[in-house]
Amino acid sequence: MKSIKVLTVCLGNICRSPAAQGILENVSASRKGFTLTLDSAGTAAYHTGSAPDVRSIKELKKRSIDISQQKARQVQQSDFEFFDWILAMDRSNYQNLINMAPVHYHHKVVLFGELPGMSVLGSVKDPYYDGDEMFKVMADHLVELSTNFLNFLDQPQNK
Ligand code: 4NP
Repeated sequence: MKSIKVLTVCLGNICRSPAAQGILENVSASRKGFTLTLDSAGTAAYHTGSAPDVRSIKELKKRSIDISQQKARQVQQSDFEFFDWILAMDRSNYQNLINMAPVHYHHKVVLFGELPGMSVLGSVKDPYYDGDEMFKVMADHLVELSTNFLNFLDQPQNK
């Protein structure tokens, strides 16, 4: 079966992108026709080697998704060659990725909430400085964006 390689990216790689990886893995498990090879990374290196934020781990655990074994890392140049899609959580992440990426890989970098040809579903707000409630909002939003992304991949031109 075809495997599509997807990297989820936020700033610190401890709140949004590890949660996006876990949710995409969970949501895609029931899809036929392709599998996803997933990883996540941050545009910054502040938290390299750290486990996801405990609030992301807790919120996903409530949904029976375990992301506790992930380790933060920074985006590296080889990611732009290896991955088929690089999903930015917000506009700032998107711009940082575009600034890093070789021009011939720019087409792989997309805003998770504004996929080409799909409805605009908005940026994933950084919950790092917020309370637990915003981690629930983040996870609900990521479920919606993940389902939308799988519908995007179902279109023949995006496989
Ligand atoms: P993330 O959230 O980009 O969703 O992982 C953040 C985590 C850490 C920081 C900022 C955002 N920080 O400034 O340390």
